Amino acid sequence: MLCRLYGVFYECFVNVGSADVALQPGPAITWRTIGGILDFYVFLGPDPASVIGQYLEVVGYPTMPVYWALGYHLCRWGYGSSNATWDVVKNMRNYGIPQDVQWNDIDYMDRSLDFTFDPAAFSTLPDMVKDLHSHGQRYVMMLDPGISSVQPEGGYWPYDEGLRRGVFINHTDGSTLIGKVWPGLTAFPDFSDDVTHEWWYDNLKRFHDKVPFDGLWIDMNEPSSFVDGSTVGCPDTELENPPYTPGILGGLLRAKTLCASAVQKTSSHYNMHSLYGLLEAKASACALKRMLGKRAFVISRSTFPSQGQYSGHWLGDNRSHWKDMYTSIAGMLTFNLLGVPLVGADVCGFSEQTEEELCVRWTQLGAFYPFTRNHNAIDQKPQDPPAFSPLARSAMKQSLLLRYSLFPLLYTLFHRAHTHGHTVARPLLFEFPKDVRTYGIDRQFLWGKSLIVTPVLDPGVDFVVGYFPQGLWYDYYTGDSIRSKGEELRLKAPLEHINLHLREGAVIPTQRPNTTLFVSSGQPLHLVSSLSEDGSAGGELFWDDGETIDTLETDQYAHIVFTVVKNTMTSEVLHDHVEASYITVETASFYGVKVEPTRVTVNSQDAAFTYRANQVRAAVLTIKHLIKFR
Ligand code: GLC
Repeated sequence: MLCRLYGVFYECFVNVGSADVALQPGPAITWRTIGGILDFYVFLGPDPASVIGQYLEVVGYPTMPVYWALGYHLCRWGYGSSNATWDVVKNMRNYGIPQDVQWNDIDYMDRSLDFTFDPAAFSTLPDMVKDLHSHGQRYVMMLDPGISSVQPEGGYWPYDEGLRRGVFINHTDGSTLIGKVWPGLTAFPDFSDDVTHEWWYDNLKRFHDKVPFDGLWIDMNEPSSFVDGSTVGCPDTELENPPYTPGILGGLLRAKTLCASAVQKTSSHYNMHSLYGLLEAKASACALKRMLGKRAFVISRSTFPSQGQYSGHWLGDNRSHWKDMYTSIAGMLTFNLLGVPLVGADVCGFSEQTEEELCVRWTQLGAFYPFTRNHNAIDQKPQDPPAFSPLARSAMKQSLLLRYSLFPLLYTLFHRAHTHGHTVARPLLFEFPKDVRTYGIDRQFLWGKSLIVTPVLDPGVDFVVGYFPQGLWYDYYTGDSIRSKGEELRLKAPLEHINLHLREGAVIPTQRPNTTLFVSSGQPLHLVSSLSEDGSAGGELFWDDGETIDTLETDQYAHIVFTVVKNTMTSEVLHDHVEASYITVETASFYGVKVEPTRVTVNSQDAAFTYRANQVRAAVLTIKHLIKFR
């Protein structure tokens, strides 16, 4: 999908063909595609955020994630054993560092075979998963699409059964196409065929009976192969050697993937190649929903428009470089525009050795990726938070607790994405389309329309420069105000600090954090209001049990709107449901109360409050009182 702005409207081009795009020196672009349907859309906007909403109406709004998808995920390639993996989880618990999900890469498998686990090194895997569950944590492991084709007959059900049901992609002569991935020679399931979806489900179910995993990480699904086309090459046809080959890796359509002429149920691989990851994600999400009866958690490397309906995405193999951390912001924002808001990069960097300072800063930035996972390549030193000095560990812990405290806001933003096609993490220009200075900003971003994140992206500094569009902004932590004319400001940023500012006019729901979202999401709310010049503010909360499918459609949710006008905050329950309404408000802070109140009442009862006049415009009023919504 490619969109281009033409004055007042946007033209988008959705196409599955192999394509390249050339940016011309003038204000022009050349698109060249060699297949598929030429599907053009014109979105009238009028502003960038509306264009994205209109685009997502076409390709489908993203799915509502299961609540624990928004917690902290820890992963690496090469834990080496289930006990070593388990030790990391136990260490995290000992240090009280939030963690919702533990992952395993391919090393959990027996000889890299899908749907198996190493009976020696990972013999305790089922016990570890049970232990995770008993602590309100979850387990996710990797699956690659390549299915080993060289196991003794009768010894590997996924391949034997796949052959029997005819699920694999074939050559034009009807023989199974064999490529090469981690387990060696492999066949590739054709996810464009419903029969394959059923076979995929059966495999997942059989494995789940042994290891009760909670979600799936689907990798190498471009699909990737270590040989070009197949082990026996590809036929010399026009599909393989079209008159024009787009500027792709290797200069051949089959480079590091399957033959273009390979046969899939729906069409040739030439036409289906770009859809492989989308259809695998669909098969995986449908199987998980069917098996677990809950919202599915799938993270995919390969994506296509509509992906957000089935999965999230990580930005692929990066390096432990400051530059890679910086460019991850553009990647994260792009996928929010594409309707895949559940996105993040490998925190602390995948390949090469990370450094402590980089990993701290990256964990702070990662705390604001909608999907936050620390992942590391094989043979690199551990980079989970307990692996670092007490100072670094504590800084990482603080940033994760901060994320967990903001869960009600984040969850509500995902609801907005799911129901209205809004972005979760958003470029500043979406909120300030008239301020041209926001257009090039790629070192800061917003959560929703009000919370601006200004991470440190450089080594050895204790300050950061951020741009603040015109208006009143409040330091999220202190309530100190900044009145910006639309200017760059230098902010203090010691190692343990990530700058967060709240735009005037917001009410955001927060919660006392804990080490899992299972626990912290049961805590009462703390509402933070940032009053605008005239003393008004507004916000909302969407709440449900966090995992039931389609709670909106089946009315099993609560939706509450908060408004502050003329010194009075009201909460209006727009929708209520018994399961969702156990949530209460415990405390509320108001940034920007200009005059100290003499009396504060909650539901007509006098309430205790504190008033801190730290700046003329930024006094903070905090009220302690428990309010039930019903
Ligand atoms: C691919 C993935 C990476 C993973 C590795 C081993 O490179 O992108 O995340 O660790 O394969 O499975």
